[in-house]
Amino acid sequence: MGDTLARLAVAAGLNVMISNSRGPETLKDLVQDLGPLARAGSVADVAREADIVIAAIPLIAYKQLPADTLAGKIVIDLTNYYPQRDGQIAVLDENASTASELVQAHLASSFVVKTFASIAFATLGNGARPKGDPERSTLPVHGDDAAAKARVMDLLDTLGYDALDDGRLADSWRAEPGTPIYVNPYMTEWPAEPMTVDQLFAWLRAAPVIPMSQQRAADLLASAARGPAGGRFPETI
Ligand SMILES: NC(=O)c1ccc[n+]([C@@H]2O[C@H](COP(=O)([O-])OP(=O)(O)OC[C@H]3O[C@@H](n4cnc5c(N)ncnc54)[C@H](OP(=O)(O)O)[C@@H]3O)[C@@H](O)[C@H]2O)c1
Repeated sequence: MGDTLARLAVAAGLNVMISNSRGPETLKDLVQDLGPLARAGSVADVAREADIVIAAIPLIAYKQLPADTLAGKIVIDLTNYYPQRDGQIAVLDENASTASELVQAHLASSFVVKTFASIAFATLGNGARPKGDPERSTLPVHGDDAAAKARVMDLLDTLGYDALDDGRLADSWRAEPGTPIYVNPYMTEWPAEPMTVDQLFAWLRAAPVIPMSQQRAADLLASAARGPAGGRFPETI
């Protein structure tokens, strides 16, 4: 997701700084590929320098986000709870919280906004369209701070998406794994035959995008019923 969002941002003319857990030297090839608007830094560099930070990390790593350095910043959370990867998290299993509320509680002095979590990375990359394009898609946005949410909705517009304000972080379960808007309606049917992960990623990269109108996004979000939290990797893998 970080790679895809960096490509969309560079394509939109934004400066991008990327980081990972292993250090900036491991990102040289990606930076070169992204071009002159991109550079790599440490997590602390990104936290200090970025106007908007996108935490494109597994949920299990959220407590490693540097809360002090991120104080006062807008942080986009796109994590999804996958117990096979993240381990069981009781408050999520009990539907007593959402993944983004956990991130906000850790980043108590930041403005956490949830978006990009309900679309697959390849669809996100392939589905960006200029404003007014009839094939432009809509992504849901959740957040507790109105100004931060508005700023992130502007960013979505810049990157090629319409945004739909669907309420607070507590409401973000409506776009979590297993809900009607999650991943599937933005793309054609998953292939029926079993695939390796590499085959699945290749299929995803080539799969046509199904545009999501504002009305369809609103209808899908409204039709969500809260079930067991946490996604399951597709059984085709
Ligand atoms: N893949 C999708 O289509 C998709 C769609 C929507 C939402 N999401 C959600 O987006 C998040 C990222 O998914 P992904 O598929 O992009 O995962 P990924 O390909 O495994 O990438 C995760 C990235 O996070 C970095 N990272 C992990 N722990 C870190 C830490 N403590 N500090 C800094 N960087 C750290 C990793 O760096 P290193 O490699 O150096 O450890 C890696 O670059 C997940 O929560 C996922 O559920 C994914």
